[in-house]
Parts: sequence; structure tokens; C-alpha cells
Amino acid sequence: MASDPAERAGAILEIDLTGIVANWRSLAARVEPARCAAVVKADAYGLGAPQVSAALATAGCQLFFVASLDEGIALRKVLPTSCEIAVLNGHVDTGMTRLGLTKQEFEALAPVGTPRQHATCWRALISHLACGDEPAHPLNEAQRTRFAAARRQFGDVPASLAASSGIFLGRGFHFDFVRPGAALYGVNPQPGTSNPMRQIIRLKGKILQVREVDRGDAVGYGAAHVMDRPGRLATVAVGYADGWFRSLSHRGSGRLGGRRLPLLGRVSMDLAVFDVSAVDPTLAQPGGFIELLDDHYGVDAAAADAGTIGYEILTALGRRYHRVYRDEANLC
Ligand SMILES: Cc1ncc(COP(=O)(O)O)c(C=O)c1O
Repeated sequence: MASDPAERAGAILEIDLTGIVANWRSLAARVEPARCAAVVKADAYGLGAPQVSAALATAGCQLFFVASLDEGIALRKVLPTSCEIAVLNGHVDTGMTRLGLTKQEFEALAPVGTPRQHATCWRALISHLACGDEPAHPLNEAQRTRFAAARRQFGDVPASLAASSGIFLGRGFHFDFVRPGAALYGVNPQPGTSNPMRQIIRLKGKILQVREVDRGDAVGYGAAHVMDRPGRLATVAVGYADGWFRSLSHRGSGRLGGRRLPLLGRVSMDLAVFDVSAVDPTLAQPGGFIELLDDHYGVDAAAADAGTIGYEILTALGRRYHRVYRDEANLC
């Protein structure tokens, strides 16, 4: 049995911390003089909150958002005390109708006189856009207008409206600080246009077996794919229990030797089967790897094939993957 966990693992997930820092810096430069926080809830969207937050803090990020108190307590242990950690899930509701103060609650609580004289210690005024990834949606401007009006009642209390997509709606949406999450991790904040963010993760799945098949052979559960010609198939140690969604059945793909490999049949819990007929047989060998996510087929592309969004691909990334963090030239 291999003693090295990397050798035992069915798949290897590389997380590019340098790329996350580069994405944060490019967003921070875009919004200046507004400040750029980082949203690291849900274990930094599945990529590892301690590692991601520490890298961002070293790069100069001062404000981190999580979704629960427990996430914040855990993060407090890894961040310098100079960094502020805030729990989301409370802000002024300007049109999303999810959380936050309603209009009536806001009016009741809003400071009379200057915010500094008010009994409540207001640390920030926050709202969230419902349609930030649809620039033409009229709710964006409506929320911006409502937020600007709310903000006028709060003097110099720092105000924040934009997450990843909102940053790209223009300066009017930046206010005092922005709160990107997904864009830091490579999700396109402007769907339908070319992605300005660096891809952050690479996932490669180990080939467990390679077999020759004949025309008429059925592949996987439900015999849901039947070969229409002879070929060669590779079975890879990644399945829906690893976040390689079952909805990628018949639709997903991998890459090897620069070629796209169609995923055949249904994804099962721990395995998926790829057609490697077109690949040099010396490349597709048991113990070798098929690229599942890379710069060419990123989280958004996998999400489109799986019928979901990049956020869900990220946060579902499997716990069984062997994780390698890349920080500049160092592996950690
Ligand atoms: C209130 C709030 N702010 C910021 C974010 C970060 O959003 P994004 O990942 O789209 O940048 C989220 C994400 O769900 C959120 O709920």
C-alpha cells in the first residue's frame, strides 16, 4: 500500500493561493478608493478558509466575511488580530427579500442625529444585490438607489453593497467597501462575457482501469450508454460523492494529452468512465491521471455541463481529494 497520501488518493485538487491573491488584488485595484474585503464563508467556498484567509491577509486584506459565528471563531484562530472578521446574514434589505432589516425595521432603528450618538454601535451598513450578475436588470439600480438613501442616514458608517458581480456594475455600486467571494475563486462575475478572473483550481482524477470495449457494450449503471463502436475506456476514481455531480452523466468531460474525453454513461458514487479511444494508449494508463478541471475547463464550464453554477461546483468539491496548495513557487 502506498504510504504517501497523494499516491493513495483517487484525485488531486490543486488550489492556487497565488492566483486567489492575484484575483483579490485585481478587484482591489478596480474598486479603489473603496476597500476590498474577502468572503471566506463555507470554508472559502470549499477551498480551505484557513489557507485562503492567511494568504489574503498576508497580501493586505483586512476584512473577512463568514456566514456563521462558528466560522468566525474558527477563522479568528488563524488570522492576525489586525484583521476584522464579520458575520454576514444581517444587512439592510433593499430588494432581495432574504435577510436583513425590512424598511420598517430600518426606519425604527435608523439613527436620529449622528450615528455616533445613537445607542446602537453601527459597524457597517450592508446590503446585497439580488441580480448583480445581470447588469441590465432594473433591480440593480433600484437597490442602489434605496441603499444610497439608507446610507445618507448613517453619516460615515462604512457602507457596502457589491459582491463579486456588483463590482463590475460600476463605481456607483462600490460605496466604501466591496465583498467578493466567488470571483476570488475563479468564478466569472460577468456570465456571458470573457472571464477576467484567474482560474484557481485544477482537479485530476486517477485512472483505476483501462479496458477495450466492443460495439454494443453497455457502460455503467442502468446500461445507460451503449458503445456504437469499439473503443478504449478509462475508469476514474471520482464520483458524485466527491462533488463530481451525477448530472454530469453523459455530458461531462475530462482532458488528456490535449484531447477532450467524453464522460460516458452515468457518474456513480465513486467512479466515472471516460472515452480514451482517441488518446495515445501510452498516456491513458492505470495510475495515470485525467484532468477534470483546469484552465481550459474551469468551474463555470463544469457548472454549465452539470446544470448548476460555479459556486455549487466549488462548495461541493470532495473531501476525499488530496489537496495541494500552491503559494508562489512553494507547495504546502
Ligand atoms: C451578503 C453576501 N455578501 C457577499 C457575498 C459574496 O458573493 P459572491 O460570492 O457572489 O462574491 C455573499 C454570497 O453569498 C453574500 O450572501
